[in-house]
Amino acid sequence: MLEEAYLTYKNIVRRKHSISELREARNRMFELYLQLQKSPLSVRRKVPYNIRRHIGKLLSNHKGRERRANNIPSPIKTNRKISDVVTLSYRLRKFQVRKFIIRKAIEMLESPIKALTLPGTEWLFERDLLLTERCEKIVGIECDKNLYKFSQFNLPFKNSNIAFLNKTDEEFFSTPKGERKYSTIWPDTEVKFNLIWLDYMGPFTKNRLTVFEKALQNDFVEDKILFGVTFLKGRENIYTQNLYKETVSDKDEPINKLRSKAITTLYLDIAKKCGYRTKVLDIVEYKEPSGGAHTAPMILILLFLQKGGIE
Ligand SMILES: C[S@@+](CC[C@H](N)C(=O)[O-])C[C@H]1O[C@@H](n2cnc3c(N)ncnc32)[C@H](O)[C@@H]1O
Repeated sequence: MLEEAYLTYKNIVRRKHSISELREARNRMFELYLQLQKSPLSVRRKVPYNIRRHIGKLLSNHKGRERRANNIPSPIKTNRKISDVVTLSYRLRKFQVRKFIIRKAIEMLESPIKALTLPGTEWLFERDLLLTERCEKIVGIECDKNLYKFSQFNLPFKNSNIAFLNKTDEEFFSTPKGERKYSTIWPDTEVKFNLIWLDYMGPFTKNRLTVFEKALQNDFVEDKILFGVTFLKGRENIYTQNLYKETVSDKDEPINKLRSKAITTLYLDIAKKCGYRTKVLDIVEYKEPSGGAHTAPMILILLFLQKGGIE
């Protein structure tokens, strides 16, 4: 029966019959296919493998199109993304990076810490930061709607110091003054940050600089600020690779050698343009010990910015 429905469908496709006829034949074929999938293997095998496979693909494409039309994310992709972020949180070197940033923040910042972070799903950095008892406020942002919902469940118990927003970093730093209400708990709306860690999962792009510039220009930061940024080491597109080459004088060097110097220079230039003196505290290129999953090499750039004082 399924074979017949399949041939009818193919025939309609070939002859370009009406859309409604095509839809009817397709739905009938999908219905029979789904029924067959519930049967024992011996029954399924009576329909040739290539036909079952083709219908399976048509069905999966059709579901994908429907999901896209209705703006529904694929459950497999969503779960994979959440599970990726969870796994990334438990990378060994990541624990060291978090502690390093917190130690530097305690050392360099005099006033209570007001942090802006990308917490991911686990809130590990933010929990430790609160434990220092030097942290007054944390605003966490997450651009992905499903990750945001998942992370909300994981919020640390004592979370009155935390506001969590479903926004991209660019949207966040574009919020006009007067609309910067992060949490109903905090009476003051205009929090200025002195610790920002943008822990990106992907490579550096020019847009990251736009975000940095907006943070400095749109009055989101205090006069002394610790700014950290993490990138994937690699997978830059050709425009970014060219930007690296334009930024440093050693144009013939391989990208691996240019990257950290170029990215740091680009950040320093923006800080200078916005009236900040900058000290590069560290550039850490790290990779997990081999063997585990998610061992992609990363780069952390940690800067200390101070308003004014530029000769
Ligand atoms: C690497 S994870 C953060 C991990 C966390 N900082 C930690 O210490 O484990 C990055 C998170 O930021 C989100 N994200 C990436 N780019 C973003 C952007 N431009 N704006 C807002 N969220 C972003 C990702 O969806 C992901 O959940």
